[in-house]
Amino acid sequence: MDKHSRRSVLKAGGALGALGALSLASPAQAVPWTWSAKGSVAGTGAGTDPRWVWDPEADPLVADLLDRGDVAAVNQLLRTWTKNGQPLPAGLPADLREFMEQARQLPPWADHGKLATAYEFNEKRGLYLGVLYGLASGMMSTVIPKEARAVYYSQGGADMKDRISKTAKLGYDIGTRNAYAPDGEMIVTCVKTRLVHAAVRHLLPQSPHWPGVADEDIPISQADMMVTWHSLPTTVMQKMTAWKVPIPAGESTAFLHSWQLGAHMLGIKDEYIPASWAEANSQAKQVLDPVLAPTPEGIDLADILLNLGAEVDGGILSKPILGAFTRFMLGDQIADWLNIDREPLWDSLLDVAWEPFIAVREGLLPLPLAPKAYWMFDEFLRKAALLFLSEAKPISIEIPDTNRPE
Ligand code: HEM
Repeated sequence: MDKHSRRSVLKAGGALGALGALSLASPAQAVPWTWSAKGSVAGTGAGTDPRWVWDPEADPLVADLLDRGDVAAVNQLLRTWTKNGQPLPAGLPADLREFMEQARQLPPWADHGKLATAYEFNEKRGLYLGVLYGLASGMMSTVIPKEARAVYYSQGGADMKDRISKTAKLGYDIGTRNAYAPDGEMIVTCVKTRLVHAAVRHLLPQSPHWPGVADEDIPISQADMMVTWHSLPTTVMQKMTAWKVPIPAGESTAFLHSWQLGAHMLGIKDEYIPASWAEANSQAKQVLDPVLAPTPEGIDLADILLNLGAEVDGGILSKPILGAFTRFMLGDQIADWLNIDREPLWDSLLDVAWEPFIAVREGLLPLPLAPKAYWMFDEFLRKAALLFLSEAKPISIEIPDTNRPE
């Protein structure tokens, strides 16, 4: 661990010390899975608790690749595999090829009509989506203890900027016109991410930090993946609804469909994927809300995230403004957990002017009440969307072969 991060962790640890032994108090493991598979895409299921299901197809395969030292060569070959319809590169190990050929197949329930509507929604709502994926979902991931720790101690934890670009690639790819079509990239991104997650399941338990911080033997269970999934589409849709952004029912269902498909392609079993927003909201209430908690690792990650904007644009994406948006979107409790300062000017401006700003933007309110603040909000949306989504394009997702370097 470099000096800076060690210092931040210690600092964050000190702050947390005052709140008690949070990592021990983390309720993550305590939430039983009682959500019924009747509400899932599959409509039925074996009833296995997804906290004890990982990825039985990918995990042993990738563990074996790591053990036999094949990952560097595989990554090099996979760099050339970028489009959904492209044949897999020659030279991949036979067992990996066989898995990937199967993993890249869309399920029979994929609905291309809905995907076309999802694209219309993404086009219209790209600015909101960029900010929400980046600040609502991205910052929420830092208060999902299992995810924060996994990210922090895995290889990518050492370079958050690179990691964010890679993760943003998925948010970008899913919103493109051809996301799941042969000339799109979302299937490739999902299959590669599935391999990355399988590698993390094998590597992370070998980290010297893992036994001290984790309350589990193997990370990234199917339940964990659904928790993170809810920090994405479910949270985004909840926020847009709260902001009264007008969304036709067909577009809302279509957006959900594109993310249901994303979950499937990431290796999540259909019996755990909610079939409707009502089911998604009820599952999120059960599995996401109760696990949110601060950790030293998450606090450090959040701090890095909030500083990234200023690197790109020292003005409109400065740390205080990103912090105020985070507080506005995720609430005081989460903002306080993350040691985000109160910004009296920005906090009150957002509280008062954000909803009217949306209404004006959406043509629902004819007269801008505070044009200057609205211009700033609009500029903020554009810059943040650019930071979180558009920068993601040329990145290649690679299978890690180590944990975070010491
Ligand atoms: C890697 C997305 C769930 C931990 C990635 C990557 C993407 C991604 C796109 C590749 C980027 C990269 O290599 O840095 C998602 C999505 C999820 C999900 C969409 C759920 C729907 C989870 C969960 C955890 C997790 C639940 C942990 C509990 C990680 C880690 C990496 C990773 C540790 C690798 C970082 C490294 O390179 O070392 N994820 N993920 N992910 N994910 Fe996830």
